[in-house]
Amino acid sequence: MLLNKESGSELRIYGCTRAASAALSHCACIVFTVTIALLSRPGTSWFSWHPFFMTLGFSFFMTEAILLFSPRGSPLKTLPHKTKSRAHWILQCLCVTCAILGLAAIVYNKHLSGKPHFTSWHGLLGVIAVCAVALQSLAAVPLIYHSLAKGWSLAKLKRYHAATGLVAYLLGSGSLLLGLRSAWFTGSAGEHTWYLAAACCAFNALVVMNQVSSAYTAKKRLQS
Ligand code: HEM
Repeated sequence: MLLNKESGSELRIYGCTRAASAALSHCACIVFTVTIALLSRPGTSWFSWHPFFMTLGFSFFMTEAILLFSPRGSPLKTLPHKTKSRAHWILQCLCVTCAILGLAAIVYNKHLSGKPHFTSWHGLLGVIAVCAVALQSLAAVPLIYHSLAKGWSLAKLKRYHAATGLVAYLLGSGSLLLGLRSAWFTGSAGEHTWYLAAACCAFNALVVMNQVSSAYTAKKRLQS
């Protein structure tokens, strides 16, 4: 009885922590996106669109698309799973659109200044992250039209989708963090802003990683 009470309060503390971190993650992705938008002032140059679109796509749309499925922190918690899935793929489409626009802006900007392409770790990881989210979105089509993936159960497709989606998200977060080390960002942001931006980005990656991996391990526990 005492043990049950203890594990009950442990579960409550764990649940509250997860709810608080999801709420903080919503704030972090908004703060990060607004900070980059204010610093880059989109529209003032071709370059300015790059950090703006990339942050909007990877930090805001993709984080929110995943947090939609958070058991504790989803803004659509009370709605049916089908509605969440629809909102998820709309946000993911917006993420891919932003990623392509952000990539086009920096490639064109470099072309104008005659600089070589994909020479930094940030650029290299970035182009891989953009390809990964685009492929991930294409590979998700059978989740909507299941007849396209004959011989694959829906549960298996969902498991692969979650695992590859997490990899794409982490590639994007890695590129965002490396982007913060660029001469442009270190020159435009003060020390506090730099730490705030890096903390938001790292925190979101941890929350998303925890959400996806615990959903997966919970399912495995149910299956075994
Ligand atoms: C996940 C988000 C991001 C992705 C996928 C991404 C992707 C890329 C790619 C592919 C390039 C190389 C383009 C070329 O060589 O033609 C690049 C360059 C650049 N990016 Fe990003 N970027 C992202 C976010 C950011 C952010 C947030 C900043 C600023 C804070 C930034 C700053 C820069 C700068 C200064 C360059 C030019 C120098 C370089 O090639 O490293 N990027 N980015």
